Amino acid sequence: MMYSIVIPAAGQGKRMKAGKNKQFIELNQTPLIAYTLQVFEEDEQCKQIILVANEYEIEAMQDIVRAYNIKKVTRIAVGGMERQQSVYEGLKQLEGPDEIVMVHDGARPFIRESIIHELVNATSKDGGAVVGVRMKDTVKRVSQNQIVETIDRSELWAVQTPQAFWRDSLLDGHKRAEDEGFVATDDASIMEWVGSKIVMVEGDYSNLKITTPEDLLMAEAILRKRRMEHDS
Ligand code: CTP
Ligand code: MG
Repeated sequence: MMYSIVIPAAGQGKRMKAGKNKQFIELNQTPLIAYTLQVFEEDEQCKQIILVANEYEIEAMQDIVRAYNIKKVTRIAVGGMERQQSVYEGLKQLEGPDEIVMVHDGARPFIRESIIHELVNATSKDGGAVVGVRMKDTVKRVSQNQIVETIDRSELWAVQTPQAFWRDSLLDGHKRAEDEGFVATDDASIMEWVGSKIVMVEGDYSNLKITTPEDLLMAEAILRKRRMEHDS
């Protein structure tokens, strides 16, 4: 089954402290966002990519799309102040009949095609699905530096992207969220808020979101391992 994808890349990467949007940080002379784009360029089930960029970085993104020969990028949308606005702007660019749409962070370059396909299948069956991993750490609720409770880990998942829904329902959710001032850090939160059923697809820990400087060390290690797998 085919899908379209919106890739928000319009953030500032403040926690990375690189003095620029982390999407442009190079790993092996290749910008971070190029890795993410390549995954979907190569996936035969992906039919088009809407890339969302900061208004000042449209040209720089265009250059990367050209340099890495990413043919599926049909539009570069201008993002907003928050991730939610950037995703909404991207979704508005999709035309034609209802279809499965995925939202995937530009900052998650290590998503595997097999997991993307599991997500597509789950969405076509259940209407909405997200990728996540089981929590490794014990999690506690803390108030004013004092532990309030320990949360039962067996039910806790750390949510990643991609997150996939039918486009018309996701657009509806975003519209309602904007109208009613509901703000969330991921798309599933919006769809939970409107009451949609969403299933969890178990992914893997290598699909990290490059967020802080130490994530770059992990990213280099993952790249090295994948290159070894590829060469052997
Ligand atoms: N994003 C976006 N538009 C925004 C904010 C974030 O498109 N206004 C994108 C980022 O570019 C990233 C993804 O959403 O690919 C996840 O956000 P996050 O990891 O928080 O990235 P940044 O917002 O760039 O980083 P920070 O929060 O540290 O500033
Ligand atoms: Mg952010």
